[in-house]
Amino acid sequence: MEAAKAIIEEEITTKLEISTNNSFCVADFGCSTGNNSFPAMHTIIESVKGKYESSGLKTPEFYVWFNDVISNDFNTLFSSLPPDRSYKAAAVAGDFHGRLLPPSSVHFAYSSCSLHWLTEVPKAAECLMSVWHGGEEREDAYDAYLRQLERDLESFLKCRAVEMVEGGLMALLIPGVPEFWDPQKEYTVGSVVELIRSSLLDMAKKGRLSYAKLETFNIPYHFPTPKEVRAILEKSNSFNIERMDILKNGTFLNVDGHVACFRAVHQNMFTLKFGAETVDETFDLLKKKLQSSPAFTNPLNDRTVFIVAILKHKHV
Ligand SMILES: C[S@@+](CC[C@H](N)C(=O)[O-])C[C@H]1O[C@@H](n2cnc3c(N)ncnc32)[C@H](O)[C@@H]1O
Repeated sequence: MEAAKAIIEEEITTKLEISTNNSFCVADFGCSTGNNSFPAMHTIIESVKGKYESSGLKTPEFYVWFNDVISNDFNTLFSSLPPDRSYKAAAVAGDFHGRLLPPSSVHFAYSSCSLHWLTEVPKAAECLMSVWHGGEEREDAYDAYLRQLERDLESFLKCRAVEMVEGGLMALLIPGVPEFWDPQKEYTVGSVVELIRSSLLDMAKKGRLSYAKLETFNIPYHFPTPKEVRAILEKSNSFNIERMDILKNGTFLNVDGHVACFRAVHQNMFTLKFGAETVDETFDLLKKKLQSSPAFTNPLNDRTVFIVAILKHKHV
């Protein structure tokens, strides 16, 4: 994303504290197979190099730690590393809500489109129907999702606080939703999630999957508002918010694009929980629901946002 790139470049130029250290370590938390990670790592490293050059200091050696869950396809990542890269790469497999790297070793931490994934679906939202019904039950489920995101972000920041050098910078890109949007005319990524829930309920109504399975299943992520993210980040004792920008979603997906994107993310999860034979039908239902919602007729109605937060590790 060009806008996020410009923010990161500017923050490195103006806020990064550099030293005569001969190594500089960047870590990407939730890198997936690298497609989006490689350009981001390039941006960060080129900006840091520029900062060293303009300060007349010797450029350090660069290291990138690529982190994702242990089941991530690191083989694909390593076989597609850019051949002209100016860094050494290592994989760090594991949950980023726990400690992964040596103390005071990371100079720049990055995480894009990963932190909205929750470590677990909270108890009060465990039954898909409870989120779908209106009223108090729905509000309780929403609150439970938000509290889970808060707990998860807190543990992420606690671990990074140990791993990062004092004065180190962190860039977090989190997909989210605005405070308000008009569901008659506009939509967000959250609207698609609602339609996935509705498709699963329709599958149960048709007898294609059991209600019992929906009593112990819900979507394990929360798309926060910028206000929610700021409130959580402000509680950190270890990081200051240097800057927070709200970017518009620039992907402009049509209905098929939304279905493909959400299918890629949910296919394995739905196969494991509901059986491979239910997946095509669930996503056919989703497609029909998107096609019959007036807001989805125009990708320009998308009000999804990207929250870009730049944090600085406090000096103690
Ligand atoms: C939507 S992808 C984003 C990939 C890439 N960062 C990007 O911007 O396109 C989310 C990634 O976060 C990873 N992820 C989610 N939770 C994680 C966790 N607790 N620890 C490590 N990686 C995690 C997932 O495995 C997935 O590869």
